[in-house]
Amino acid sequence: MSSTFKPVIKWAGGKKSLSKQLSQIILEQLDGFDRYVEPFFGGGGLFFSLNNDMFFKSSKKKIIINDINKDLMNLYKDIKRNPKKLISVHEKVKQQYHDHGFYYIRDRYNGSKGHPYKGIYKSAALMILNKTCYNGLYRVNKSGEFNVPVGRYSPPAFVKANEVLLTSNILPDLKNIHNKSYEKIEIRKNDLVYLDPPYDIENKNSFTSYAGEFKQNEQEKLHKYFEKIVKIGAKVILSNSNTKSMRDLYSSHKIKRISAPRGISPKSDRKAKELIILGNNFQN
Ligand SMILES: C[S@@+](CC[C@H](N)C(=O)[O-])C[C@H]1O[C@@H](n2cnc3c(N)ncnc32)[C@H](O)[C@@H]1O
Repeated sequence: MSSTFKPVIKWAGGKKSLSKQLSQIILEQLDGFDRYVEPFFGGGGLFFSLNNDMFFKSSKKKIIINDINKDLMNLYKDIKRNPKKLISVHEKVKQQYHDHGFYYIRDRYNGSKGHPYKGIYKSAALMILNKTCYNGLYRVNKSGEFNVPVGRYSPPAFVKANEVLLTSNILPDLKNIHNKSYEKIEIRKNDLVYLDPPYDIENKNSFTSYAGEFKQNEQEKLHKYFEKIVKIGAKVILSNSNTKSMRDLYSSHKIKRISAPRGISPKSDRKAKELIILGNNFQN
């Protein structure tokens, strides 16, 4: 595996910055779990960096990934199922982008104008929009339409064919690529679960809107899921922002404070401290 391998999708809250610390923690636990479960997969920053490090792939762990974003998970399924077809459709949609521009692709992706993209065309369009929209954000309006404006790239760094093929190789089998709310993901005793939810709100500048917001009551709901995982006897790691409510919620667990820039954040927010929280059944 080339060390330059990168995720095909840029995602808000991408875990590139924390991946060193998180990889280290997972590496230390490598003999203690059979399945790696990631219920808030997004761009899969940590997962792909673990695969860059080789050890994860060679360890033959079973992988389960999930995200509530349907188009995103359909893209991963298409990458897994039929990477060559996706590469050729991606070329066609890229040509349409060059001929007609960003908003033509966005309208067809949303099905709001012209002939709507469906199936693998929609996945290819998501890859194009992600590389050409403002900051690689994913945001939808109340009607569920992708509404991020065009970004400034000269030229955009489109996904390359070999990146799709490598990703296809690394992704788990189709039956282990899910599109549900996290609490519906079944956890077993010998799992290692990495939870990377939308972050708790630090201040009004924080980016909190993905496909929907994750408000305080949902952080509390997630905390119950975290406790349930610990009770089952599985290992759980959570990343979140360093807010008082997070420190209070998880005070009976192991909290590490990390200073790291967010993947996508306003300048004023770059020094935000993050938390890595380990279930109190972690031995280290
Ligand atoms: C901080 S991002 C994850 C970023 C990811 N670790 C990466 O490296 O790109 C949070 C993710 O949670 C997803 N999400 C939000 N609510 C969810 C839910 N109830 N169940 C599962 N996923 C959810 C969002 O779609 C988003 O992709």
